[in-house]
This record gives sequence, C-alpha cells and structure tokens, in this order.
Amino acid sequence: MEKITLGPMPYMGVMPTLLVGANVKGTPNYMAAAWATVACMAPPMVCVAINKERYTAQGIEENGTFSLNIPSVHQAVETDHCGLVSGAKEDKSGVFTSFYGKLETAPLAGECPVNIECRVFQSVDLGSHRLYIGEVVEIHADKACLTDGKPDITKVNPIVYGPGTYFGVGSQVERAFSAGLKYRKE
Ligand SMILES: Cc1cc2nc3c(=O)[nH]c(=O)nc-3n(C[C@H](O)[C@H](O)[C@H](O)COP(=O)(O)O)c2cc1C
Repeated sequence: MEKITLGPMPYMGVMPTLLVGANVKGTPNYMAAAWATVACMAPPMVCVAINKERYTAQGIEENGTFSLNIPSVHQAVETDHCGLVSGAKEDKSGVFTSFYGKLETAPLAGECPVNIECRVFQSVDLGSHRLYIGEVVEIHADKACLTDGKPDITKVNPIVYGPGTYFGVGSQVERAFSAGLKYRKE
C-alpha cells in the first residue's frame, strides 16, 4: 500500500447522519449533524460538535438540553434541508412533528425511528466548534424498529454520511466481538 499525506483535517471516514433538536426561544429547531458519537458507557453519554454560529447552539445554551434524532434513509431530503437552512432565517419547526420526553425542553422528531434525549453534561470550546457532551436521559424508539428490545440497524435504516454523500447501510460482513476469534485459531 503506497501512502501519501493529505494534511491535517477533521476526517473520520464514515459518520452518522443525525438531527440535533433544540428549543430556540421556545420553538423546536432541528439541524443536521454528522460530527457526533458515543462518549461514555456509565453514565451513558454522547457528544456532538456544533459550530458556534449555529442557531441550534443558541437553544442548547438557553436550555442546557438537546436531542439527537436518527433519521431513516427515506428522510434524507428533510434531513438535508435541516442542514442547508438555518433556523435563524427560516422556521424549521414544522419539518418534523415534535414531542417531548423527560426533558421538557429537548424537542424530539417524531418521524425519526430513534430519539435520544440529552442533558448537557459539559461543553468544550474547541475553536470553530463547541463539543457538547450530553448525558443520555432517555431513548425513545419506534416499536417496529426493535429486535429483542433493541434498535435493529436493518429496521432503523439510518443514513450514513460519506462525507459529502448520503449512503444506506450495506450488508453484514462479520459478527463483532467474535470474528476476531478466528484470528486466534489461525
Ligand atoms: C450532512 C450534514 C452534516 C452536518 N454536520 C454538522 C455538524 O456536525 N456540526 C455542525 O455544526 N454543523 C453541521 N452541519 C451544518 C448544519 O446542519 C447547518 O449549518 C444548519 O443549517 C444549521 O442549522 P441551524 O442554524 O438552524 O442550527 C451539517 C450539515 C449537513 C448537511
């Protein structure tokens, strides 16, 4: 394999495509986000990097709460719209049907199969972006997307971010935490 250097950039290969929900001045707002991941097991935490200019950031600062919503591939158009248009310029509250869970200020997008309610645990100013680390207070999942009580990736059918392109999830290649056993036997 011949390698060439590409210079430093915030690259992570594959990323999720999510919607960050926050109430801004009492109105639900959703923005597309790909710079997000799981951050801690116990207590359960997730994190998302949000540019300080985003309207969504105002809402998170206002309430100390936010949601991460996992759209399905058939919601790619609505999701991309939330990544193209700012709530500062256009009301995005009608793009999804909002509901609220335990946190009364974190709007959840009803049409998304999985919704993660978060309370800000800590935020870190990194420069252009602020990393919001959220403690997961509750997860709401569409019954139809569960297998053995857990969200099933083939039923949720999430959008994978390329970057620059939206993909669906491909086929299973191996089983995690067991494929490696074959290596030991060889
Ligand atoms: C697929 C996709 C992923 C994005 N990921 C992020 C992200 O992780 N962080 C961020 O600050 N902006 C991200 N954006 C840009 C925001 O979604 C966009 O600026 C949006 O209009 C902000 O909305 P708001 O001003 O209503 O908060 C992304 C946009 C797209 C289309």
